[in-house]
Amino acid sequence: MKIRVGVIFGGESVEHEVSIISAIQAMNKLDQEKYETIPIYITKDREWYTGEMLRDIEIYQDLSLVKKYGKNVVLYYKKGSYVLQKKTFPRRVIKEVDIIFPIVHGTNVEDGVLQGYLQTIGIPFVGSNVYGSVVGQDKTYMKDIWAEADLPMTKYVWFYDVDYKKDSEEVLKKISKLRFPVIVKPATTGSSVGIMVCDDQESLIEGIDDAIQYDNKIIVEEVVENLKEVNIAVMGNYEHQRVSEIEEVLSSNKFLTYADKYIGNGKGKLKGSKAPVKNSSKGMASANRKLPADLSDKMRKEVEEIAIKAFKVLGSSGNSRIDFLIDDAKKKVYINEINSIPGSLAFYLWEAKGIDFSSMLDDMIQIGIKDYKKRVSKTHSFETNILKGFAEHGGLKGMKGVKGKLR
Ligand SMILES: Nc1ncnc2c1ncn2[C@@H]1O[C@H](COP(=O)(O)OP(=O)(O)O)[C@@H](O)[C@H]1O
Ligand SMILES: [Mg+2]
Repeated sequence: MKIRVGVIFGGESVEHEVSIISAIQAMNKLDQEKYETIPIYITKDREWYTGEMLRDIEIYQDLSLVKKYGKNVVLYYKKGSYVLQKKTFPRRVIKEVDIIFPIVHGTNVEDGVLQGYLQTIGIPFVGSNVYGSVVGQDKTYMKDIWAEADLPMTKYVWFYDVDYKKDSEEVLKKISKLRFPVIVKPATTGSSVGIMVCDDQESLIEGIDDAIQYDNKIIVEEVVENLKEVNIAVMGNYEHQRVSEIEEVLSSNKFLTYADKYIGNGKGKLKGSKAPVKNSSKGMASANRKLPADLSDKMRKEVEEIAIKAFKVLGSSGNSRIDFLIDDAKKKVYINEINSIPGSLAFYLWEAKGIDFSSMLDDMIQIGIKDYKKRVSKTHSFETNILKGFAEHGGLKGMKGVKGKLR
């Protein structure tokens, strides 16, 4: 019997449209002999839909078509299976699903929120668990963990919006330990949203005011000069890791913008959305790049080793892309960020190493199954008669006794 793979995509994220592209690319490449693919699309207003027509990118030009022809469902555990059941009457089970493949990007989905739901209902899924996903999205968490592991990074400072609003002098004093130019980023958004390079105090204040609109946590970093950006993917989990080819990403701007990443020269837009889709149907695969990157053997090795350490220490699983900033004059390598579910699943980085898209997806699913087996093999509950004792002690009156037992 084929494994029934539910591909979840979309969701309430600024990278909603990019996720549609990544998911459609992957669904077209999943081995049909082995897998039955079930598209599961989460709209921006958090409704879940399934149906074959969700494989067609055209349908997303008009959400009313999705609502009209798709089946509005919930995913839950029912009598020993995981099911997609219609929300409206008659509440039929539409599909059973064996494993979920989340192909989502950004906050509210990639960052552990979706993974939390999947772990709560207990369904096997591909990619990082809740913890790996959370630290993979929040730039302050990932950097603090990497700093502890002695990985090379640019100097950075982070703060909360409330503290800045209360005492901006104090926060600016903290930032003054960095040298200009600096780059201001919201800690948890992605796709270069709310990011600004600042050359002086005045533009720094502007940058912070802008970033605060996107997040309550802001990170400010020293800018890497003579910038060369390279990315690498790591596949595996905390036990085994292997690395892809390294790409160099090229930008015409000071830093890689949303447009550089996904649009090229395209100008198509989704209805009611600022984000382009039509002319960027190649997703991350369409960015301007040199593949393989032009690097010395020594630097290549350095990037590979740092990437593996970075992946492992965050507890990542599946296939993540790790991005580096290189000062090409000083030949100094800095790790920048991890993307736990990268655009287009970074398939092109594996293809360049002779691993085609379909086998890459296969590997990811196999790792997901292994992670699931490992997860259920650990004891999560233990026999206890606390509740019985609670009743015997007369309910609430017995609270003292219960506390004693818990200790
Ligand atoms: N410290 C830095 N020095 C120079 N350029 C940077 C630095 N940090 C980020 N950038 C530029 O900004 C882009 C977006 O920043 P990044 O941290 O990758 O955020 P995002 O999650 O939005 O992709 C990077 O691809 C790079 O071009
Ligand atoms: Mg980035």
